[in-house]
Amino acid sequence: MHEIVRLKTVGSTNEYLKSLAKTARGGLVALAEEQTGGKGRLGRSWLSLKGQGAWFSVLVKDGRLCAENAAGLVFVCALACAKSLRRLCASNDILVKWPNDIVLHGKKLCGILCESGFDGEKLCYSICGIGINLLSERFPGELPWATSVLAETGLKLDPLSVTQAFLAEFDILSEKLYNNGLAEILDELRPVSATLGKTVCASGPDGNVTGLASDFAPDGALLIKTCEGVRRVNVGDVSVRGVMGYAD
Ligand code: BTN
Repeated sequence: MHEIVRLKTVGSTNEYLKSLAKTARGGLVALAEEQTGGKGRLGRSWLSLKGQGAWFSVLVKDGRLCAENAAGLVFVCALACAKSLRRLCASNDILVKWPNDIVLHGKKLCGILCESGFDGEKLCYSICGIGINLLSERFPGELPWATSVLAETGLKLDPLSVTQAFLAEFDILSEKLYNNGLAEILDELRPVSATLGKTVCASGPDGNVTGLASDFAPDGALLIKTCEGVRRVNVGDVSVRGVMGYAD
């Protein structure tokens, strides 16, 4: 069961839960109407205007959480977002762009930021932060690939229902992760991947890798076939684009 705390304005729901993480129960969810300092992956910011989306985070404190499972939560979240949005929008065109963007018609609907807290070496909790653009009709010029559920489907979904739909999938999939491992999650992800089978360009600290995204490694890394052989790119240190655009 999840307790959902509803906040009018907060800096970041991830930071809010971080401040409570030591004492709060696992499963706590913070859902904000607006974030003034929404955080994205790779140190970016996340535009979270009032009433325009589902901006929420889930505190995970399961006894079965370990570094390996925490890394797998990124994929659990992506799959839970894709499954719940596919159902709510009645659209199988909603896909996961590796590692964890949700895209529709080649544009980004939703982003995911998972962070973990440690006590020394020991992993104590993870926070899964989800931002789903629901109602925005226009985005600033620097976000050419952003879109919303309304802009793509004409549907006006409400943030609480979207959060609850996500949580139902998240609970099922995180049980699968703890009990059966990441392989089962990756098997479900392959058919909804916007990335596999496409020519992609991954930019990371070691430069660019361009080639055919051929599969996921057992730990979720992306395998890219290049002229020099198969290269792996890890979650966390790359951005991946289709060669013609964001998720083509
Ligand atoms: C990304 O694609 O860069 C990840 C975006 C994650 C945004 C969500 S909104 C709720 C939660 N709180 C934050 O500050 N970030 C995440």
